Amino acid sequence: MSHLHINPSILSADFSRLGEELQAIETADAAHIDVMDNHFVPNLTWGPAVVERLHEVSPVPFDVHLMIEDADRWAPRYAEIGCESVTFHAEAAIAPIKLARELRSQGARAGMALRPATPVEPYLEMLDELDLLLVMTVEPGFGGQKFLDLTLPKLRRASEAIRGSGGRVALQVDGGISEETIGRAAEAGADVFVAGSSVYGAEDPAAAIAGLRSVASRAVGDSTRNAFMP
Ligand code: DX5
Ligand code: ZN
Repeated sequence: MSHLHINPSILSADFSRLGEELQAIETADAAHIDVMDNHFVPNLTWGPAVVERLHEVSPVPFDVHLMIEDADRWAPRYAEIGCESVTFHAEAAIAPIKLARELRSQGARAGMALRPATPVEPYLEMLDELDLLLVMTVEPGFGGQKFLDLTLPKLRRASEAIRGSGGRVALQVDGGISEETIGRAAEAGADVFVAGSSVYGAEDPAAAIAGLRSVASRAVGDSTRNAFMP
């Protein structure tokens, strides 16, 4: 991916005015939509009917993150209603390869997410089946948690594997991303950054998006320079 993506999570938006909250992030690359079923995670949000209607009024594409059991059954529904990218959890899918192919055949980008304690190695052979790999940097379920630095080595290994396989898969991080942490994630190889509380908790979400973007690109620029200048 040539450019760094900032995808604000509407989990931290004002739920009474979601349409306007989507307008407030029109400078973002996509809106991150967290779907939770109170089984895979101990929290509950919205389902396909609400997501479909929000998608109709959104100025930006939808990056759907499914924190649900029975992903094989429900994920294709989000592709069908036009969500640009649909990410299921590796821990929740019975047949991840079949599911990724189904999502792609419906015109969506296929994403797969890993909880912080799930290793990436068992999934490296299926990278070609994916458009996006999400390395969770907090335990999924809630916004506003602290970034887990212990996920950085996994992020680095995932980034190396992606580069080794042609570099076509986007590497997303989600959880605890702020101006303080985004640089570490970018240096480790992430190129798509989900940010909930640091965007919607800010007075000016557009300024927060711009701030995250500039810290991330500076971090990548710095690490590139370091590689060439001892
Ligand atoms: C957590 C969700 C995240 C959440 C991130 O389970 O997947 O997308 O909204 O929120 P922050 O950025 O506040 O950690
Ligand atoms: Zn998420």
